[in-house]
Parts: sequence; C-alpha cells; structure tokens
Amino acid sequence: MKKILVIGALGQIGSELTAAFNTRYGTGNIIVADINDDTNRLFPNNVFEKIDVTDMATIEQAIVRHGVDTVVNLAAILSATGEKNPDLAWDININGLLNVIRLGIKHRLDRVMVPSSIAVFGPQSVLYNTPQETVLTPNTMYGVTKVVGELLGDYYFKKTGLDFRGIRYPGIISNKTMPGGGTTDYAVEIFYEAVKNNRYTCFLSSESCLPMMYMPDCVRATVALLEADRSRLRHCGNYNVGAMSFTPEVLAGEIKKHLPDFTIDYQPDFRREIARYWPASVDDSAARSDWGWQPEWNIENMVADMLQAVREKCR
Ligand code: NAD
Ligand code: SER
Repeated sequence: MKKILVIGALGQIGSELTAAFNTRYGTGNIIVADINDDTNRLFPNNVFEKIDVTDMATIEQAIVRHGVDTVVNLAAILSATGEKNPDLAWDININGLLNVIRLGIKHRLDRVMVPSSIAVFGPQSVLYNTPQETVLTPNTMYGVTKVVGELLGDYYFKKTGLDFRGIRYPGIISNKTMPGGGTTDYAVEIFYEAVKNNRYTCFLSSESCLPMMYMPDCVRATVALLEADRSRLRHCGNYNVGAMSFTPEVLAGEIKKHLPDFTIDYQPDFRREIARYWPASVDDSAARSDWGWQPEWNIENMVADMLQAVREKCR
C-alpha cells in the first residue's frame, strides 16, 4: 500500500479520510480524484485528477501515471438521491465499482476498498443487533447496489484473489463537508439548525432509531480495515461496524442539554420509509475480532464536539 488513489475524495467521508491519509502515509502518496474539481482547494498539496468513476479509461490513466497500488472508491449516489434517480445510482455505484474491480485485477493492485452501508438490510432483516450474515432484501436502489457491490467484491476475491475490503458504514456524522443526499443526513443538519435557529424540522419520525458514527471513528475504522492483515479477515466488503444508536428525539434531548431552548418538530417524508427498514443497531463482533474495531465516540461526547465545531463554523 504505497500509492493510494481516492475516488470521490471531496465528499463527506472523502474530505476527512483523505486528510487522515495525508497525515498517515504522506501527501505525495495520495492521489485525490473526484468528478468535481477541487475548487475549494481542500487538498492544495495533493495531485488532483478529475475522474468520473464510470469512465474506466480515466481511472486507468491515473493508476498507470502515478503507480497507484491501492484504490479507495468513495464515489456513490446515496439513498435519498438514489430513490430520485435509480438509474444514476446503478450506473455510478455498480458500473463505477466494476471499473475499479476490473482495473484492480488487471493491474494487480495491492488492495481495493469500497464502502458498503446499513442500507443493505431491509424488511426481512433482524433490525436489532443486526447480524453480519442475514437476509439482505433492501428496498432502495442504493441498498440494492450495496448488496451487489458486496457480492461482486466477494466473488472476485474468490475467483481472482483481488483484495477487496469494505465496511457497512452506519450514518456518518461530521462537520467539515455536508452529507450528500442520504437518509441519515438529519443527524448532521440538526446541529446547524440548532446553532443558527434553535429549532429543527426533522424529515424522519421521532422514533426512527438508526446506527450512527462520528467521523473520527469512521476514519479510524477505515484505516484499521485498510491496514489489516488479509489473513485475519474472514470477510471482504461487508463488515458491520457500530458505535452509537439513537432516534431523532433522543438526539434532540442531548442537544437540549447544551441549548435548553432548542426545539424539534417532525414532518416525515419518503426518507422515513427508508429508515423504517434499516437496523436500529448492528452486531459488529466480526470487525471487533478480525481487525480490532472499538468505537471511541458516543452520543454524549459526539454532541458536545459537534456543537462546538458547528458554532465555530457559523461564527
Ligand atoms: P458523498 O456524496 O458525500 O461524496 C461522494 C463523492 O463522490 C462526492 O465528492 C462526489 O462529487 C463524488 N462523485 C459522485 N459521482 C462521481 C463520479 N461519477 N465519479 C467520481 N466521483 C463522483 O458520499 P459520502 O457520504 O462521502 O460516501 C462515501 C461512501 O461511503 C459511499 O460509498 C457511500 O455509499 C458510503 N456510505 C456513506 C455513509 C454516510 O453516512 N456518509 C453511510 C454509509 C455508507
Ligand atoms: N448515510 C447513508 C444514507 O443515508 C447510509 O448509507 O444514504
């Protein structure tokens, strides 16, 4: 793992994971790529490649030009946007993924990482302490693409030895880059509305309980799995990872401890139906035993940290 190409590096997770990679592996070893230009100059000291993940030739040129041996593909259409444009979700999430897999095999890459999601689960899944191995019948196109992605990673690992790795991220909470069209986005938006207006109208219902994770844990988990010894990994792209679980009501209550006048009301939309069939919590014992996963952030310290960071941003 000497040269890492991060595709989708300017998104919610990429913008912080890439910064962590720069610190850990050296800026000169991280190639930043996205379909959008790096106009915000998030990564002024990295080589930047404008790449559409559905265009295999541009990915291959970057791999060859920079001697890339590891690809982390974060380019995706998330759950809510995917329901509005399922064809686009399929194209980017599956055809993009297949491009990365094919190039990984062709160029004998050291490893390839593509995240999965709690969206792989659905109405037939056990929704509390959801096992890693269970029935996967998602009812969103996003979830369908994530199940197929996991299966493709597993298939090509067995057939070709391609070292494919992935985590089923829960909803990720962060304060550097806004989330990009998911069902769990409320758990980020709420902090901005709390700080700016002391009130928030939530698009989920008060009791929609979902697993969540603060970005520092997301980055640690991703690095830990990326660096893990392959011989210790019993799975490829489908590791459950948990950190905290809460409903909008519980999150609002925690925010109220810091902002006593904060209020929340509810206007559930189609995203409530997506959340209804996602787990409330996941069994991440495989991640714990295979690569030492252990979360460090809970709802209390996450809320305190988020409020401080968002206050500073909004000043
Ligand atoms: P995001 O939407 O914030 O970022 C995606 C990035 O990909 C953006 O910078 C976008 O410009 C880029 N992109 C979009 N289409 C592209 C294309 N055709 N070619 C190249 N780049 C393209 O997403 P994120 O939240 O950072 O998610 C990263 C990964 O993690 C995705 O696979 C997502 O499914 C997964 N995930 C995220 C969460 C979460 O809560 N954020 C939860 C579970 C899984
Ligand atoms: N945060 C993501 C979404 O809501 C979960 O994969 O789409």
